Amino acid sequence: MVLKGTHKTNLVVLVVLAITGWNNFTTASNPKTPGIDEMVKEQIVPDVIDAAPKAVLDVKYETVEVKLGNVLTPTQVKNPPNITWNADSNKLYLLYMADPDGPTRKDPIFREFIHWLVGNIPGTEISKGKIVAEFLASGPPKGAGLHRYTFLMYEQPNKLKFEEKLMSNRSVEGRGNFIIRNFAKKYNLGEPIAGNFFQAEWDDYVPTIHKYLNITM
Ligand SMILES: *[C@@H]1O[C@H](CO)[C@@H](O)[C@H](O)[C@H]1NC(C)=O
Ligand SMILES: *[C@@H]1O[C@H](CO)[C@@H](O)[C@H](O)[C@H]1NC(C)=O
Repeated sequence: MVLKGTHKTNLVVLVVLAITGWNNFTTASNPKTPGIDEMVKEQIVPDVIDAAPKAVLDVKYETVEVKLGNVLTPTQVKNPPNITWNADSNKLYLLYMADPDGPTRKDPIFREFIHWLVGNIPGTEISKGKIVAEFLASGPPKGAGLHRYTFLMYEQPNKLKFEEKLMSNRSVEGRGNFIIRNFAKKYNLGEPIAGNFFQAEWDDYVPTIHKYLNITM
């Protein structure tokens, strides 16, 4: 078959359309589509979530920024960070920060330890959300190596009424043995829309946090 010029071009366009169309189709139909690579590489997937979010949550402490697994010190991350993401002001969001590596990443008997949990966040205004767990600074035990402090943002399907008791940051009560997968299922949150994480190990600020919490390690 001999194709004339324009037919040839049409054929090329069709083939290109078919290939890109197929790619879109396979992407949309596969819930395990790769998201943030570093969350897979450092095994936040599958330790905490089933699929990595596609968007990076912007997390900034006073002097440092969280960058997909970078190593920060407890001194640098002791106060609540500013968090931004591509939010729709008409929607409600839920923020989760946790450490799945207590007491050590190799032997995580505490499962996920909640550091921060805020729901019903209107748009990006975390301060207007409903606190379930107050922000608690990161204090990994001495000699326990690096812990992965993980941030996840969920988009809520509707306004929620949380059954969980408020967790104060004057104590660690209720914070261990948490599983965000179960919580997300219970409140119909789906998979997170954005995420980020840093890693940290003990430094000499940790005893101050533990003293404040009345815990000995
Ligand atoms: C968060 O943002 C506010 C307003 O821009 C700023 O005043 C504050 O210092 C920031 N805090 C941190 C931890 O970056
Ligand atoms: C404890 O939680 C409150 C309320 O969320 C917060 O303002 C404060 O910074 C937290 N304190 C510490 C030491 O992190």
